[in-house]
Amino acid sequence: MPTNVRSLGAPVLVLNLKAYPNCLGAGATSLGTLLAQRARFRNVAAAVCPSAPDLGRLAGQLPIPVLSQHTDAVEPGAHTGAIVPESLLASGVAGSLLNHSEHPLSEEEVARAVGRLQALGLVPLVCAKDVEDARRLARSRPEFLAVEPPELIGGDRSVSTARPEVIRGTVEAVHEVSPGTLVLCGAGVHDRNDVRIALELGARGVLVASAVTRAPDPQAAIDELLAGFPRSPDAAR
Ligand code: G3P
Repeated sequence: MPTNVRSLGAPVLVLNLKAYPNCLGAGATSLGTLLAQRARFRNVAAAVCPSAPDLGRLAGQLPIPVLSQHTDAVEPGAHTGAIVPESLLASGVAGSLLNHSEHPLSEEEVARAVGRLQALGLVPLVCAKDVEDARRLARSRPEFLAVEPPELIGGDRSVSTARPEVIRGTVEAVHEVSPGTLVLCGAGVHDRNDVRIALELGARGVLVASAVTRAPDPQAAIDELLAGFPRSPDAAR
């Protein structure tokens, strides 16, 4: 494995840049750099998911893990446009989201992609839409599984306050099937309270987009989210 592949810790703040216009190219670099600086200052684990053309550059520049937003489970070869695990490894990318509700896969594709990533020492972060989906997808034993009710994604109401039972239920269901899988949650997570509640309900981190990508002041938005993580004795202040 290249030495520039950085492993994911927990509890973790994962920032998905999606394809927001301000999060492409130089925008991805500046948000990724800001996240790395602020997370280091607070001593919180963080990772960023830029769009595919920005992956290799950011993986080479940032001191935090960079994850792809998607991976195709196909073998390297004649697959125009495919993102194969081998290309992620070669670019220093640490792993990949799989089955995000904006890029859904079949259960079988998820299982294959999880296996392909893990075989290369890369980290799969599988997304599920509800407790039963999470229970099924946990059978592939990914390192991370994030539950995100699709109807709350990009909105003002967070999964933590609007659907806390989904977080609690997913933690229980996933741990019955795959005790080693760390559960994250996402959808509408905006502030320290959303993060704190998620962690209290058993989540090991949050998957966030619009709270930061659409914020007028991204640093303030990142700091607000980081404030919900437990205070580390090593934090800068
Ligand atoms: O991948 C993160 C995501 O889907 C949640 O999006 O905008 O609700 O934080 P958002």
